[in-house]
Amino acid sequence: MIRSSVAARSSRAEITLQHVCQLYRRYQDDLRVVRKEQRELRTACPEMKTQLDDLEAEITYLLMREERPATVVEIGSLHGWSTTWILRALRDNRAGALVTHDLIDNARHNVPAELAEGRWTFVPGDARETLRGHRHSIDHLFIDAAHTASFARWFVGELFPTVRAGTTVSVHDVFHRRRPWPVSEGRVVLSWLANNGAGYFTPSRLAAARVNRELKELKQRLGLLKPVHDGLDDPMLFFRMP
Ligand SMILES: C[S@@+](CC[C@H](N)C(=O)[O-])C[C@H]1O[C@@H](n2cnc3c(N)ncnc32)[C@H](O)[C@@H]1O
Repeated sequence: MIRSSVAARSSRAEITLQHVCQLYRRYQDDLRVVRKEQRELRTACPEMKTQLDDLEAEITYLLMREERPATVVEIGSLHGWSTTWILRALRDNRAGALVTHDLIDNARHNVPAELAEGRWTFVPGDARETLRGHRHSIDHLFIDAAHTASFARWFVGELFPTVRAGTTVSVHDVFHRRRPWPVSEGRVVLSWLANNGAGYFTPSRLAAARVNRELKELKQRLGLLKPVHDGLDDPMLFFRMP
């Protein structure tokens, strides 16, 4: 069953609909600016492939504003869409650094220099190699890479044990439907969460329809509904590392 809250084993607030709504209200002015900047980026780089939908990108931004991670690790930047959302959160925090791991380096051409300067490191290569024995103290882990069960078995088995309890983790492309496919990254992550007694939050249109609707209603009241990105699924899953 989908739970819209996270049973966090940390002092941080649980990730719930109520918490996310509070963050929308708290950071609405900055978010308005970032949404405009991201729209302008898409216009300036029309060939840029962009994957994150608006709710999941905004929740990523809002959680980072609230939690002020010192080190964010991103796996899977493609052309830099999620990367620029994350970097704007760190810029607005005036603190924090992002380390991005990807097989391809297209993001390097799209991320504005003033956003990258002093806060962004790009590591080319297969994350299973580039993160082997890593020395990051990860404060937020963002995963949007290979959506296969075998890749997920790598990150739950090898990477998750290196991330301390309470850290915010997000995994993309889990809930394009009400439930993930039986053999998929999402299925592996959900099983791992269940085995470890951890809940999760998703704004997915199909898996958490009420959450998705209420967030859009709030955005309408705040004047934040005009689309930045055209996707509507918001399949990302957020949780605190148990
Ligand atoms: C879905 S795209 C990321 C989309 C991006 N986050 C966005 O918001 O537009 C997946 C990315 O993961 C990268 N990727 C796939 N397998 C990988 C691996 N083993 N290690 C590092 N990156 C990988 C791909 O090269 C691709 O750029």
